[in-house]
Amino acid sequence: QELKLNLEQIEKGGYPHFMLKEIYEQPQAIRDTFRGRMREHKGIIKMAGVDDHIDKFLNAKRLVILACGTSWHAGLVAEYIIEELVRVPVEVEYASEFRYRNPVIDKDDVVIAISQSGETADTMAAMKLAKENGAFVFGVCNVVGSSISREAHAGAYTHAGPEIGVASTKAFTTQITVLTLLGLKIAKAKGKISTSDFHMHLEELRLIPEKVEEALKNNEHVKKIAEVYKDASNCLYLGRGFNFPVALEGALKLKEISYIHAEGYPAAEMKHGPIALIDEQMPVVVIATRRGHYDKIVSNIQEIKSRKGKIIAIVTKGDVTVKELADHVIEVPEVMDSMSPLLTTIPLQLLSYHIAVMLGKNVDQPRNLAKSVTVE
Ligand code: AGP
Repeated sequence: QELKLNLEQIEKGGYPHFMLKEIYEQPQAIRDTFRGRMREHKGIIKMAGVDDHIDKFLNAKRLVILACGTSWHAGLVAEYIIEELVRVPVEVEYASEFRYRNPVIDKDDVVIAISQSGETADTMAAMKLAKENGAFVFGVCNVVGSSISREAHAGAYTHAGPEIGVASTKAFTTQITVLTLLGLKIAKAKGKISTSDFHMHLEELRLIPEKVEEALKNNEHVKKIAEVYKDASNCLYLGRGFNFPVALEGALKLKEISYIHAEGYPAAEMKHGPIALIDEQMPVVVIATRRGHYDKIVSNIQEIKSRKGKIIAIVTKGDVTVKELADHVIEVPEVMDSMSPLLTTIPLQLLSYHIAVMLGKNVDQPRNLAKSVTVE
């Protein structure tokens, strides 16, 4: 027993929990994801799984993304990124719905199955269904040799390293990284992106790990905010555009490890219902970075403020306007809008982590949850 405990301590590498270790591993994990793939000098992105089947990607009439949980959130970010870059329709489906709803599948569809573990039963069944109907299936997995990676026609690994904490962290950011590379690669192959734009994106991506490091420096500040809201019974997360899925992911992180009820919404949907929940007891986490629909989000923040909601805003470094309105701000470095989820996610992971620790919850193995859901 003692030996087991010591081994676990060693595996945690000095961190009190795997989740915190994995949050801090993100700069390196993201670097490992793009290492060897970005070849700026040649003006290419190398991904063997795409290169070997490039016609499938060039001829695809649409892309269909299948996933569950956090991987589904990464899929939503990818939808926004790929549609913007490649200009083909992208649909993102819960694998559990797709597999049972007699979906329309075409042989010209490219299906992307995203799964950290590569063992999720619903994702596996959904991709098999797509395969049986003639679609080309591309897997995005973290675990090498996993069932989904073997079942796919081709794929790309995230190379995030083992993720032990049940709450997914580095898998999410590395999935977004791989899918960004995929979007850029197809856009380039289809002539949808200029050479200078392509290089600008690669340059921006290369700087992400150090910006994530900078975002992690807010840890103590986030911990203080966690102290204020740890006893909340509800929490709302709002974001727009590329950061709408980040709001969903922030809410999922909070509920799964702290058991606080949390909901994520596209900020403008607030008026269609959730605004009724807002009172002085309600913490509202708003992703309000400068490049993404900033004015719109500022007016959403004003609406929350006038109903006395408590605002925790994730802002771009140096922000002035939101700082005036919010109760708390957490800064992240400036970055192009499409890559901002890689930064805005970081404080949300830390916030849920600290709240769960303060509440004495089992952060790495929350009740009722398994790391991978291998049965229905
Ligand atoms: C995320 O924190 C979850 N624990 C969960 O939603 C997870 O992302 C989901 O079960 C999918 O797992 P997969 O990526 O291994 O397929």
